[in-house]
Amino acid sequence: MYKIENHPILDLPKEEFVEFQFEGRTVRGQKGKTIAAALHQAGLIVHSHSTTGRNRSLECGIGKCGACEMLVDGQVRRICITSVDGVKEVREIPKDYMPEGKPRTAGETKIYKTTVAIIGGGPAGLACREQLTALGIPNIVVDNNATEGGQFNMQTHQFFFFEKEQKFGGMRGFDIAKTLAGDNHDGILLNNTVWDLLEGRRIALKNIVTQEVSYIDADHLVVATGAVPFMPVFENDDVPGVYTAAVFQKMMNQEHTLLGKRVLTVGAGNIGYLTSYQAMQAGATIKAIIEGMDHEGGFPVQANRVRRLGIPIMTSHVLIRAIPNEDYTGVTGAVIAECKNFQPIPGTEQVIDDIDIINICTGLIPDNQLLVKGRSVFGRNVYGAGDAVRIGEGTSAVLRGKQVAYEVAQELGIRFPYEDYLEVSRQYIDSQQRPVRLLEQPRVPSEERMAAKPYVQINCLYGFACNPCTFACPQGAITKPTTSSVPMVDYDKCIGCMQCVNHCPGLAIFGYDKRKNVVFLPVEYAVEEGKEVFLVDDNGAKVGRRTTRPMWHACRLPRSTT
Ligand SMILES: Cc1cc2nc3c(=O)[nH]c(=O)nc-3n(C[C@H](O)[C@H](O)[C@H](O)COP(=O)(O)OP(=O)(O)OC[C@H]3O[C@@H](n4cnc5c(N)ncnc54)[C@H](O)[C@@H]3O)c2cc1C
Ligand code: SF4
Ligand code: SF4
Ligand code: FES
Repeated sequence: MYKIENHPILDLPKEEFVEFQFEGRTVRGQKGKTIAAALHQAGLIVHSHSTTGRNRSLECGIGKCGACEMLVDGQVRRICITSVDGVKEVREIPKDYMPEGKPRTAGETKIYKTTVAIIGGGPAGLACREQLTALGIPNIVVDNNATEGGQFNMQTHQFFFFEKEQKFGGMRGFDIAKTLAGDNHDGILLNNTVWDLLEGRRIALKNIVTQEVSYIDADHLVVATGAVPFMPVFENDDVPGVYTAAVFQKMMNQEHTLLGKRVLTVGAGNIGYLTSYQAMQAGATIKAIIEGMDHEGGFPVQANRVRRLGIPIMTSHVLIRAIPNEDYTGVTGAVIAECKNFQPIPGTEQVIDDIDIINICTGLIPDNQLLVKGRSVFGRNVYGAGDAVRIGEGTSAVLRGKQVAYEVAQELGIRFPYEDYLEVSRQYIDSQQRPVRLLEQPRVPSEERMAAKPYVQINCLYGFACNPCTFACPQGAITKPTTSSVPMVDYDKCIGCMQCVNHCPGLAIFGYDKRKNVVFLPVEYAVEEGKEVFLVDDNGAKVGRRTTRPMWHACRLPRSTT
């Protein structure tokens, strides 16, 4: 377990430490960070044991599964979401533990009243709040985290968005999270978990810091609770060192704790690509990304970013077994095999050794339990939004959140321009489109244009819901009218300023100045000036050598010219 000391993207705050006791030893934790991070940084990764005595660690990392429950100052707490602040003692829950019931006294419970209650302060819930507020509909948002933004808080990469006016596209996830809620945070109840929906349209909450129970009485309920990681079954899948992407990513990007430095990633979807890429930014090496399907699942521009780093992507391979260390407190390797329809082919097994973490990125499952219960309590006045109903991208979460706000307004008989609803609905449908290949090769300008001025080449060959590049060009030279088209550069308008290189969330725009023999690349790693480096193609194959020269440091990004 490693504390991240340097990072090219994250601001690592000045550290203040607190101490607590863990089973007879003093553990130091960083103020504001979780108990889970403090224990992991101290090498204490076993938090509980199964009934047969097997070691257990974190499972979801985002407060949803209960696997990390421990006794914190005598109370059962989920250590992945409980901060070290004010904590004196942490210990494993004894097998015979019985919680002490504390009688509740009459009159101590707060009851909020509102028109719409939104469970989940991620992009879907916050977009719904914004639109409801614009329509003048009272609402309350409840989220069990200490800050708004949901999954976006743990994402350090720039986001794809297809927008009419640029709002979020090209921003980093954690920056979007900060802006989604706006300046006025009234009506957002943080650190509160909704634990049940009761008769009479009553929502039961518990504050995870103060343990205070309260209720919301609402006419309408929006469930925007996001998703939970999907964990496939394989031998030793419970051993510490096998972590879902949610755990790995949250610990890395929010808790600044790297759970392993030699990583095997399972799943070649966007989450597999991005967590692998982010792990490299944090100082890890990725041995391989394996994928059970016979093709990669994620977006092609995201696949290119990891291939360029030389990470092998092995399709038609499944994980059969994690190889634990001697005392089952970590992993040292994994057995994988070629597969057909996810079934391992006997005799093709091979060992991936010298790893210390297996990063499971095999997808997400909608967290829709409250949605199901909501249907019996709220009848037709319940709505699902974001990953809770359909696993998707930030754009679709935001658009579905807005669409729900219009649907609530309609139910309430509040008038609004119906075409606004239709437009949001159209954009929502477009946003769910899978990338469709439209070009075989990137477009390039004529030989004369190449020789005359610097120019850019856009390696974005698929149509999908993304367009920040179109806002990046001060000359208006880049256009992409629909999600079913690819960006086009008008080389008569392009002056070769290279500003678009810096703004593509897929790192797919490259610049060239043939007169000076210079290439402009988006680089999200610390770049040493004057260093000789290899240039590679989208498959990581070496195609040349250049010397680095940093160009911009916009958005906390080191950018380089080679
Ligand atoms: C690694 C990774 C990379 C991604 N990259 C991109 C990308 O480049 N572009 C893109 O557009 N999208 C991307 N996504 C997808 C995007 O993050 C999600 O689609 C989006 O966050 C879904 O928003 P949401 O509001 O539905 O859910 P979430 O963001 O998960 O928010 C749900 C919130 O509800 C809270 N909650 C749940 N249950 C309760 C309860 N009972 N009580 C109180 N609060 C509760 C949760 O704690 C959470 O804060 C990525 C996702 C991952 C994991
Ligand atoms: S290089 Fe400058 S002018 Fe040319 S497309 Fe990019 S941003 Fe526009
Ligand atoms: S080039 Fe492609 S990936 Fe990059 S901003 Fe434009 S549409 Fe998005
Ligand atoms: S609740 Fe903490 S690991 Fe799932």
